[in-house]
Amino acid sequence: MRHVVCGLAAAALASAAMAQPPDLFERHFGPPGRDGVSGFRPGERLALLGKTLFFDARLSGTGNTACASCHDPRHAFAEPRRIAISDNGRPGRRNSPSLLDVAFRPRLMWDGRFRTLEEQALAPFQQGEMGIGVDLALRRVRSDRRYVHMFRAALGQRPTAQGMARALAAFQRTLMSGASRVDRFLLQKEPVLTPLELDGFQIFNGEAGCSNCHRPFPLRRDGRVHGRPLFTDFQFHNLGVGVRPDGFADPGRIALTGIDAEWGAFRTPSLRNVAMAPPYMHDGSLATLEEVVEFYNAGGRPNPNLSPLIRPLFLDGYEKAALVAFLRALADEGYED
Ligand code: HEC
Ligand code: HEC
Repeated sequence: MRHVVCGLAAAALASAAMAQPPDLFERHFGPPGRDGVSGFRPGERLALLGKTLFFDARLSGTGNTACASCHDPRHAFAEPRRIAISDNGRPGRRNSPSLLDVAFRPRLMWDGRFRTLEEQALAPFQQGEMGIGVDLALRRVRSDRRYVHMFRAALGQRPTAQGMARALAAFQRTLMSGASRVDRFLLQKEPVLTPLELDGFQIFNGEAGCSNCHRPFPLRRDGRVHGRPLFTDFQFHNLGVGVRPDGFADPGRIALTGIDAEWGAFRTPSLRNVAMAPPYMHDGSLATLEEVVEFYNAGGRPNPNLSPLIRPLFLDGYEKAALVAFLRALADEGYED
């Protein structure tokens, strides 16, 4: 008996240490089996197939890597590693971004090289992350009767590479973040932020100028705000992250556009759930939110392409703590421990 109690206590401790992610799939589609004759909502079968593929490590060379290895639900669909490591053990160049709210991003990846989730979905099978190519992954899917059944139910066809991409994309579109206290404050006008967090929000919008790029709300073409708060402008900026005496370790956006001004420029990430997904920046070079705030306070890293919006801020200890407190308040309540 004592044994069992100890076991339970240990399990409770473990779950307190690691915040449990909310069930986003259920949040998106509602509780299973309550709707319609079949119990499935439109699109749910396709997303369910995508979810199965996303978590399936059999679709990798070693059998140990799934999409979820680098996009882990316990870390807001990012991962705690500085730089992603491919299935064959080879380190990549960049930090895995969170996939929460990825449906809203007009361009994907740190350099914006893909436009749609369907376009991106097979890239991990072409660039080594999964350790096998699309053809072999597809053969494995086709040899699994459960997948054959799921493809027929979702798409009315046998498994194809395009179908895999559609399903993975459909699943990722369900990964919406929920309400953080900042949402409740901004959208429902609830007085749920502490005085420190409120001061942080004011500094974020005011003297620190964070909101110039991490816009609380997306902007319409006519300049009016609309939609839900995402804290990004979806644009590319140079903060000097990764600059070395001989240039940038990673050239960033210039590799796609060839525009000199975009050397060392990367996409502004959303800040929703940012506390759940360290380390930070495209190269994972900053370990904590405190380090990020110090980085901005120092004016980024000097280089010829530094964004004119990045300059030394001269924030004092209280102001830095307030900014960090505000960033932490952007965590979904379901994620907070
Ligand atoms: C080995 C780690 C790794 C694996 C496995 C992996 N990814 Fe990624 N993913 C990354 C990294 C790193 C990036 C950013 C790369 C860049 O900007 O060049 C990324 C970017 C993305 C993005 C763009 C997100 C954004 O904010 O623009 C999507 C979508 C994505 N991955 C989906 C997937 C899917 C689907 C799979 C499985 C088929 C997968 N990933 C497997 C590491 C990984
Ligand atoms: C000029 C536009 C701009 C301004 C102003 C700006 N940011 Fe950023 N922010 C970015 C870009 C671009 C990145 C990614 C840079 C990279 O990886 O090279 C980033 C990254 C971050 C990250 C890391 C997120 C992640 O997922 O890795 C945090 C946190 C952050 N910014 C917070 C802030 C705060 C706090 C301020 C104000 C002090 C601020 N930003 C001001 C554009 C900006």
